[in-house]
Amino acid sequence: MRGNSDKDWLERVYHAEGRDDLARTYDEWAEDYDTDVIAYGYKNPALVAAMVARHVDPGDGVILDAGAGTGIIGEVLSVLDYRELVAVDMSDGMLALADKKGAYREVRNMVLGEPLDFSDGAFACVVCAGTLTVGHAPPESLHELVRVTRSGGFIIFTVSHPANLDDGFKATMDTLEAEGKWKSVDASDEYLTLPNAPEGTSRVSRVYVYQAV
Ligand SMILES: C[S@@+](CC[C@H](N)C(=O)[O-])C[C@H]1O[C@@H](n2cnc3c(N)ncnc32)[C@H](O)[C@@H]1O
Repeated sequence: MRGNSDKDWLERVYHAEGRDDLARTYDEWAEDYDTDVIAYGYKNPALVAAMVARHVDPGDGVILDAGAGTGIIGEVLSVLDYRELVAVDMSDGMLALADKKGAYREVRNMVLGEPLDFSDGAFACVVCAGTLTVGHAPPESLHELVRVTRSGGFIIFTVSHPANLDDGFKATMDTLEAEGKWKSVDASDEYLTLPNAPEGTSRVSRVYVYQAV
């Protein structure tokens, strides 16, 4: 039987057997997710929110949190006066907790990597933290994230190194730039994503900021 210790949750989400198993695992982890990742020193939401504050004004328009999970980013952004927030995720359990926080005007179950039910250019900014990663949202998800961002809007996301970056993300990021769909405007230094996580489970990440053309 699979246990539920902290390390097991990370092992389980990194080694889920397909999308349904991954969504189920997040559904089960949802109640303890915030407590666990805060204990690990999880850095992505704070650094993504910092990049939003650097590039986007609160009055610029609606921000999509793609792979919002329990809505830690929404919680942070709403304190900074970003009130027009929409969350999507494929785990209803995680979304229920995001909804409970009251930061999002709308929470919807959608799968990144499939067409999103939003019109072209619907958002002033799209954020995506900890979700563009192996076994989660694939590199092709970036095409839809760009499509739903209005021209001049920002796409702000984390990718870990080197495995994920080399695993199709860098190639897709470069292709979108070569095709004139977005341009790179900012990136953070590298940082340890989960500095206090059980040994062997933390990764090095970077926040990337692109502007839709
Ligand atoms: C590590 S959590 C990150 C959640 C939140 N962004 C944060 O930083 O706390 C990854 C989230 O992505 C969601 N997810 C994974 N793959 C997905 C996909 N293809 N489409 C939509 N959501 C996905 C999971 O359900 C989970 O809530």
